[in-house]
Amino acid sequence: MESSRHKRLLTQHVRTDQLMGVDAVPMGIAAAQTVPTSAPAMDHAEKLNILEQMDRDEVQGCSKCELCHSRTQTVFGEGDADAKLMFVGEGPGQKEDSQGRPFVGRSGEMLNKQIDAMGLQRQDVYIANVVKCRPPNNRAPTPIEAQTCWEYLRRQILVIRPKVIVTLGGPAAKMLLNTKTGITALRGTWHSLDQLAPDGPVIPVMPTFHPAFLLRAYTPENRKKVWSDLQKVVKHLEK
Ligand code: URA
Repeated sequence: MESSRHKRLLTQHVRTDQLMGVDAVPMGIAAAQTVPTSAPAMDHAEKLNILEQMDRDEVQGCSKCELCHSRTQTVFGEGDADAKLMFVGEGPGQKEDSQGRPFVGRSGEMLNKQIDAMGLQRQDVYIANVVKCRPPNNRAPTPIEAQTCWEYLRRQILVIRPKVIVTLGGPAAKMLLNTKTGITALRGTWHSLDQLAPDGPVIPVMPTFHPAFLLRAYTPENRKKVWSDLQKVVKHLEK
């Protein structure tokens, strides 16, 4: 193994250890970065164009639900339009609302560390939320708000066509998997997103705890659970 790569792996090992409280080298780092890709339904430029257009022409001026009254700006999502891995969170918080970008606050720092520990970089993945506007006082989006915004997320997913989706926290898992089951029962096992289009793709979904929960309950047990979920994702990306 060349020495720079060796060094990077070791650094990741240490970081992973610190972060997740797990004594394990991240699996499949090289493979995750050279995942064999199935032919994209659209080319990269076309995807970017559609996403930019949706954001500019529909999302930024959206007033389909009450959340439009309290937002500073919408938070569409960001990342690689060809990403194999997509994270879906709940909704923008205060920092996201003021910057117009997803996961840029403390939860974002935690998410960045998790992405790093998976052997990826933030720009390799796509990050979006169930709702594009900040719910007041960071409350969870109501089922109606989530349902109203679903059409945007559904189309984002269809354009990006990730190989895997990781949902962060209960509301995102419940929305995507159309279930009332809580995150503690859902996390750590594979589920399927099959309601994208009548004959559309079925995308594997791995629910895990929200980074904000992990920050609040930063126990070795919870860190281990999240890391175990993310390792399953890394392994799936290698296939
Ligand atoms: N929490 C979320 O669910 N999404 C964000 O973008 C930020 C915090």
